[in-house]
Formats: sequence, C-alpha cells, structure tokens
Amino acid sequence: MPSKFYITTPIYYVNDRPHIGHVYTTTVADVVARYHRLKGDDTFFLTGTDEHAAKVVDSAAKNDVTPLQWADRNAKAFEDTFNRLGMTHNDFIRTTQDRHKSKVEHYVKQLLDCGDVYLGEYEGWYDAGQEEYVPENRAKESDYKSPINGKPLVRKTEKNYFFKLSAYGDSLLQLLGSGEVFDVKPVARKNEVVARIRDGLNDIPISRTGSGDWGIKVPGDDNHTIYVWIDALINYLSTIDTDDRRKYWPADVHFVAKDILWFHAVIWPAMLTSLAKLPGNEWMRLPRLIYSHSFWISEGKKMSKTLGNFIDLEKIDHYVETFGLDALRYFLATQGPMGTTDSDFSEAKFIETYNTDLANTFGNCFSRVSNMTARYFDGKLPTPTEEPESAVGIEHDRIVEQAVRDYTNAMESLELSKAAAAAMGIVRAVDSYIETTQPFQLAKQQDKLPQVATVLYNCTESLRIASLLLWPFLPEKVQEMWDRTNCNHYTEALADRGTGDLDLWQQWGRSQPGTHIQKGDPLFPRFQPAKV
Ligand code: MSP
Repeated sequence: MPSKFYITTPIYYVNDRPHIGHVYTTTVADVVARYHRLKGDDTFFLTGTDEHAAKVVDSAAKNDVTPLQWADRNAKAFEDTFNRLGMTHNDFIRTTQDRHKSKVEHYVKQLLDCGDVYLGEYEGWYDAGQEEYVPENRAKESDYKSPINGKPLVRKTEKNYFFKLSAYGDSLLQLLGSGEVFDVKPVARKNEVVARIRDGLNDIPISRTGSGDWGIKVPGDDNHTIYVWIDALINYLSTIDTDDRRKYWPADVHFVAKDILWFHAVIWPAMLTSLAKLPGNEWMRLPRLIYSHSFWISEGKKMSKTLGNFIDLEKIDHYVETFGLDALRYFLATQGPMGTTDSDFSEAKFIETYNTDLANTFGNCFSRVSNMTARYFDGKLPTPTEEPESAVGIEHDRIVEQAVRDYTNAMESLELSKAAAAAMGIVRAVDSYIETTQPFQLAKQQDKLPQVATVLYNCTESLRIASLLLWPFLPEKVQEMWDRTNCNHYTEALADRGTGDLDLWQQWGRSQPGTHIQKGDPLFPRFQPAKV
C-alpha cells in the first residue's frame, strides 16, 4: 500500500564547497527516495545548507566578502552539484531563508514560554571546529583536544540560554528500548547512544553571545544568538510546517553520519518531545529512524587536502565524466560505509565495481539479449511458445519473484548493497540461463526457433524487472534501456519526482510480444584503464 515517505540528509555547512562525503549521504538518500517513488509512495526528500556557523563568518572574512555572500556562493555550489548529479530532492532548505528563521524563532519562543529553555551560566570545554561543548569526561579522554579534528579545546564561560535536556533521558531510553516509535540504526550505534544517555544528560547551552549579526537571535534577547545546531536541527520541521506539507511529518529517515549522531538521536528528539507537549503541536512526533552511516576514507587514509587524497568536486566530476553519473551512484550506494565501518574510496575498487557489475553483467547482458532479438526476430520481442519453465527446466519467473522480495526487504531496511545484489542476481541468472540454453546454437536450426523465442522472451522479461529494481541506482542508463525497449511509460510516470507502481510493474508477463527492441551501444562500455 502506498503511503507517505519523508527522508532527509544533514544540511551541510557552507564554509566550503561540497566533497564526496556530502555527495554520498545525498546520493544514498536519493536512491532510497527514488525507491519509494517507484513503489508509489508520496515521497518528500529534503536536503539543504546549514549557514549560521561561526566558521562561515571566518571564511567570509578571509575572502573579503560578507557572510551572506559567502553562504550564497557555497550554498549555490551545493545546490548546483546536487542538481548536476541528478538528485531528486523536493526542496533545498537554507537556514538563512526567512521561511526557516521565522519558524526557529517561533519554536524557540515556545520552548522559552514552557520553561524548557531558561537563562543560566555555563563553563566548559569548547570545540570550535564542531561548535559544541565537550563534556569533561570526554575532554579528558581526548587529552583536551577535539575528538574530531585534534585541535586544542578552549575553556569558555558563557551566560547562556539552556535547554533542559536532563529532563528527557528517561523517556529517550524508554523509546529507544522498544524501538517502535523512534529508533536509531545500526544497532551498534544505538547501543553507544544508549550507553551515553545512561551516563546522564546535562542541560545544554543553546545560545551564544558575541557572534554579531550572523545567526538567529533568541526571541526577546538580542544579546543572544541561537546556537547553530538548534537552528539547524529545526530545518527538518520548518520546511514541512506548512498546510500542504505537514502530512509528511514525522520524518521516516534522517540520514546522518556518525559524527553528528548525538545531535540527531538525543538533542533533536528531546526538543521535539518538549515542543509536542504544547497545545497545537501534538503532530510533532518523533522521527521514526535516525540512520547513522560511517565515513569514506580515500586510498586507505583519512581524506586530506595535504595528502592529496581528498575527493573534492573536481575529482567527483572526473569520475562522472569518465564513467558516467550512474557509475558514481552505483559505487557510492553499493560500496559505501552504510554500516559501522569506514569504506575506502579507491580508484581500483571503483573500476572493479564498474567493470564487474555494470559493464560485464548488466550492460553486457542487455546487449546480448537485444542483439539476439535483432538477429533472430527482426528486433521484435518474440512470442513465448511454451511455459517459461519448460524451455530450460528452471522456473525463471519464480527466481525473479524471489529476487524482487529480497530487493524489497533489503531496501526497506536500507541495506542498499544487498538490494542492488538482488537485482544483479536476476541479471546473473539470465546470463547463466543463456549459457544453459545456448539460444545462439539453437537458432541455427529452423525448427528450434520457437524455443529461442521462449528463451529471449524470458530473458527480456527478467531484464525488464531487473531494470525496475536498478532504476533508483542507475536512473540514466535504465531510462536509456527503457527508451530502447519501449518502456517509456515508466520514464514518464517517474519523471519530475512522479510515482510508479512497482507492485504492478514487477509482475511477470507484462512485456508485449511484438514490442520493438532496439540494439545499440553498450550501456556501460568496458573500462580500459589507460583512459584514467
Ligand atoms: N551542518 C551540520 C549538520 C546539521 S544537520 C541538522 C554538519 N554539516 S557538514 O557539512 O559537516 O556535514 C556532515 C555530514 O556530511 C556527515 O554527517 C555526513 O552525512 C557527510 N559527510 C562528511 N564527511 C563524510 C565522509 N568522509 N564520509 C561520509 N559522509 C561524510 O555536520
């Protein structure tokens, strides 16, 4: 049954341009969003930029422009990159937009009015790079250096507005314990969060002073600016808090990486629990899932500009030019750090994945089948003459049915590489079916042509269903295949963030004999290393 589906990425800092890490999270969210549209879900996919960080002011000053000019420039770089890479977000939120700022003021005022935000004094270890205070025990553990970037922590005292996070530990533990309303995945990350909550939660400062005009003021107190993280988290709600979009809440998945899990798994749900207590806010329930992936490293090491292994926009564009957009998506989605270990972005691994799955399996199989259809049946899909089983003694339709089930289960639990493997499994089954039945040998005998017809029908039908499952990963090439196999109705339904009907489309036997099948260039030409 189609339902609604709301998925988000973190909103990215605009002190610099996007890199592979940002592209990764947005790509996996895009694959999942496309899968839900394919199923027919009313899907809302949100990404955007987090602009009120102090480091934006610093970078702007270094570049002799105003913070807003700097933010505009980099927000545009993010938006252009995501558009160029074919992301299908439904909105791109910038925290400097009025529609966001007014909502932040509104919610923070509500938190002040209900007493969950109060004025107090704070002294602690501040991590300037992360814009967050590090609790004493963690500061000590990391030798008073940033656990993230290793730079010394700074001792800071501030008069601040505080959020009563301490009041929400028990309810969070309870919710996480059942995992039914609100959950964190993978489970190892959830266990870390639970352990930290059990250590006890302190109230947290949610305002800063002395940050000039950059940021959103605490309602009623112009000396204080709302802490950038509180401002940023609210984007998930501010964007859809309109009459026609409220139906999307709660978020079904907030995709984040491990670096920012705490904010999403603890502070954000605590804020929402507080807000939802207020009359009129009952709809502000907790997000269903926070999914925290790990990091890309590059060529075996942490990415760094000085090491020269940083995957920046130029490198990303180079991969796209050389291998195509789908190849980058496929590599990121199937080889990426969705679990609790980091993944290595290496050129060798990229080429291997491309050649094995895309060139030698999917692309090659489609070429073989369309070439044989051209040669033996004049480019028209032949009529199967026997039951699918009898041609080879395997139950082809059932293999596909099982693969669709495996794919769907994997997608629902965000196991993207497993889902892709299920789809590729169909293609591999077609390859071995061709090996067993040898249609190119059968075709030499006129009286065996009816058998060849059955084999090619089964192959085409299997590839059609595989292509549907692969579309979220490989939208460009799959559409090219649909153009060549008269399946444009899928392209049309899915264009402009439209929805499909996977339940119906994946049924065996929907390809019409007589349909024109065009042969053409390989979808994924085999890669010759000399080209890099
Ligand atoms: N602005 C905050 C997020 C606010 S969300 C309410 C922020 N921005 S960020 O620009 O630093 O982006 C962090 C996110 O980028 C990570 O959580 C992750 O999604 C992505 N990645 C950044 N580097 C990455 C890797 N090396 N590997 C994978 N993803 C990474 O934090």
